Amino acid sequence: MLLDIKELSVEFASMQGNVKALQNISFSIEKGEIVGIVGESGSGKSVTALTILGLLEKNASITSGSILYKGRDVLVMDKREQQALRGKEIGMVFQEPMTALHPTMKIGDQLAEVIKRHRKLPHKEAYQAGIKSLAEVHIHDPELVARKYPFELSGGMRQRVVIALAMAAPPDLLIADEPTTALDVTIQYEILKLMEELSANRGTSIMFITHDLGVVAQMCKRVIVMYAGEIVEQGETHQVLQHPVHPYTRALIGALPDLADPDEPLLAIPGESPDLRRRPAGCVFASRCAQALPLCQEERPGLEPVQQQNESHYAACWVR
Ligand SMILES: Nc1ncnc2c1ncn2[C@@H]1O[C@H](COP(=O)(O)OP(=O)(O)OP(=O)(O)O)[C@@H](O)[C@H]1O
Ligand code: SF4
Ligand SMILES: [Mg+2]
Repeated sequence: MLLDIKELSVEFASMQGNVKALQNISFSIEKGEIVGIVGESGSGKSVTALTILGLLEKNASITSGSILYKGRDVLVMDKREQQALRGKEIGMVFQEPMTALHPTMKIGDQLAEVIKRHRKLPHKEAYQAGIKSLAEVHIHDPELVARKYPFELSGGMRQRVVIALAMAAPPDLLIADEPTTALDVTIQYEILKLMEELSANRGTSIMFITHDLGVVAQMCKRVIVMYAGEIVEQGETHQVLQHPVHPYTRALIGALPDLADPDEPLLAIPGESPDLRRRPAGCVFASRCAQALPLCQEERPGLEPVQQQNESHYAACWVR
């Protein structure tokens, strides 16, 4: 097991009360596995990523749980150890590539700096290794791109550079938070293919955060569905997408546009997610669930195996 998260809860202090952004989430990622995390805006996907990376804002507190990375708890490491882990073992790619790039430094020098930090190489050799890593992310003229500044590149090209930077170490785990959301569809597809290829060639595990179930179907062996800071369903992608159990997952799949009829409007899920300062005692989805029973308002359903014989598909719902 590469990453094993248990009962993780995170809250943010705010003037209006504590926002309970994550509530007892548990999941794991095996070596070489690509795991998708989906859920609507505000469901806690990025907070999960930032907690693993030790990059939460100052108003955050981790109120329960553990994050074991190769058996060591990231949450008890000091800042320096966390930083070393981020640079070396856990790579990250976010939606906006500019945030990961130094705006006034040429691409080749940025790559050389990162490579020098991990391998004790003289600048010239590190620069050459950087060019090689640009070629590995299928940049056709790596020498030319190495001499450019980030602002001189297109969005898709910048994201390739960020992936090259993230893979330069190379990491055992890559955390990608909506890495292709800002890109147009063709470029999106190429970047996804590239990440898949890097994972297959190097055995890098990927935690892939996305809004897009189509991307999950294409890339991810397993999927975790989040709602209001909880995991409501998880399992093998084909199983969850073909036989969803939780009403929220069903609604997400129902909200997908019909591929046969692109003019059909997106089906929105009625209602709003609960106020995370006052989490309901029962099921978090109860206020929007058409199947809700009286029990659902009172008791929170646990994440349990969907079938006794199948220990890989889990859902948190009283009705199944
Ligand atoms: N620094 C913060 N202070 C207060 N609340 C925060 C802070 N950061 C995140 N939150 C809250 O935590 C919850 C989860 O946020 P998160 O960013 O993880 O959502 P997300 O699933 O990544 O959404 P999106 O799809 O929009 O990126 C939200 O309700 C958000 O408002
Ligand atoms: S536990 Fe009840 S309210 Fe929650 S999703 Fe299942 S049926 Fe709906
Ligand atoms: Mg997010």
